[in-house]
Amino acid sequence: MEVIISKTYEEMSRAAAEMVAEVLNTKPDAVLGMATGSTPLGLYKELVRMHQAGSLDFSQVTTFNLDEYVGLPVTHPQSYHYFMHENFFRHVNIPAQNIHIPSGTTSNYRAFCAWYEQRIEEVGGIDLQILGIGSDGHIAFNEPTSSLNSRTRLKTLAKQTIEDNSRFFDNADDVPIYAITMGVGTILESACLLLVANGENKAEAMAAMVEGPVTSMITASALQLHPEATCFIDDAAASKLKMRDYYEWIQENKPDAPRFD
Ligand code: F6R
Repeated sequence: MEVIISKTYEEMSRAAAEMVAEVLNTKPDAVLGMATGSTPLGLYKELVRMHQAGSLDFSQVTTFNLDEYVGLPVTHPQSYHYFMHENFFRHVNIPAQNIHIPSGTTSNYRAFCAWYEQRIEEVGGIDLQILGIGSDGHIAFNEPTSSLNSRTRLKTLAKQTIEDNSRFFDNADDVPIYAITMGVGTILESACLLLVANGENKAEAMAAMVEGPVTSMITASALQLHPEATCFIDDAAASKLKMRDYYEWIQENKPDAPRFD
């Protein structure tokens, strides 16, 4: 796992956006996995800036979002559909039919989840999956004790997540209790993983994820099993990493490292 530490949130977001741009420049019809939440906002802003400056084209891109709250219609301001359209999709040129977001209002969740998995397979899998991390170490809505082989399914949110996400709602009681989420197994099948994390409240989860044991108690720790996982984090989120000096040493020496390609 590669850990890239930036001084600020803005620097972190730019570095992560460069990695996305690199994938799209190499493969213009790439399949991107998208995350919501406050962390990737800076990354999306930077991708929109690149697109508007004419240096990034999304016309052949296909996307799959990680998750959606159950019970929120697409028009609800806190639904992930709404979030993605407001913060990203309406500013770039991804064809509408290429955008996939789990439905929070389907009448048959089991069938919907199976279809979602099938669609990912049909388009050849996800090339680059963007991820955030919850303060309880979750990726997507794979809460502690989720199977590391899990697939897209309905999930009951942990109380910690409901409390963390209540900041976006008028009332904590308005936060949905259930979500549809890609599984850890689904995420691990992506060719490349990119995780962003900032702030002090992510420091413990980051340390557990990068340096702790692989455990379903911290589902993000499953990234240790992936050969192409990169974490872009800021100073505060890196504050509990024991091997921080080493991660910085690797980045310092990267330009001179022998190249095999
Ligand atoms: C959202 C998602 C979640 C968030 C995580 C962190 O699509 O998959 O795992 O990434 O809850 O959320 P923020 O960025 O708001 O701290």
